[in-house]
Amino acid sequence: MTAWFLPTRSDTSRFGEALGRRLGPGHIVALIGDLGSGKTTLAKAIANGIGVRSHVSSPTFGLIHEYAAPVPVFHFDPYRLERSEELADLGFHEFFDRGGVVLVEWADKFPDLLPTEHLMLRIDLDAEAMMDAMQEDAPRRLLAAATGEIYATLLADVQKDSTLQDLLAPMTETAYAVSRQYSGPD
Ligand SMILES: Nc1ncnc2c1ncn2[C@@H]1O[C@H](COP(=O)(O)OP(=O)(O)OP(=O)(O)O)[C@@H](O)[C@H]1O
Ligand SMILES: [Mg+2]
Repeated sequence: MTAWFLPTRSDTSRFGEALGRRLGPGHIVALIGDLGSGKTTLAKAIANGIGVRSHVSSPTFGLIHEYAAPVPVFHFDPYRLERSEELADLGFHEFFDRGGVVLVEWADKFPDLLPTEHLMLRIDLDAEAMMDAMQEDAPRRLLAAATGEIYATLLADVQKDSTLQDLLAPMTETAYAVSRQYSGPD
């Protein structure tokens, strides 16, 4: 489990791109956070890091974005769905076997649908920034937790990335409490 401080949008992009460069076929990343916290901004940065240059299709009115890249990216945004059956009906599970990276916003709404092993990213507005949430660039806090060996190794690798050292933050009690809500022990 690691904690990060992302002062500006470009820091969020830098983090996402560095993570994306390490992702490959079959990897699953859950993106969790309140409305407007930065899940989509982060997902797009991750997709850029994977090598995505173009948006292919959004056949389901914004629910599934598919991006072309050497490793395809399937980006789910099931905010408007209420029941996990609706997501299952869209063939959610089939995307895990399509040789791409799967990014899932609002993954905490459908905890039963996500494979146990995945990388969880929780992004929040920094407490101080909430005072002025309308700012163009406002700091975010990010927590990353891995379930399973593959994701633990991946996360450890991101943590060592020399271009991200200035963004690493200490794990506080609050960070531990928050991350316990969203993932199993690791
Ligand atoms: N440090 C930052 N990191 C990420 N986004 C930031 C940051 N500072 C400002 N922003 C802005 O905050 C907004 C975040 O919106 P975004 O759509 O990414 O959030 P979201 O969590 O996907 O929202 P929704 O819940 O509606 O899907 C963007 O306009 C982005 O430019
Ligand atoms: Mg979003």
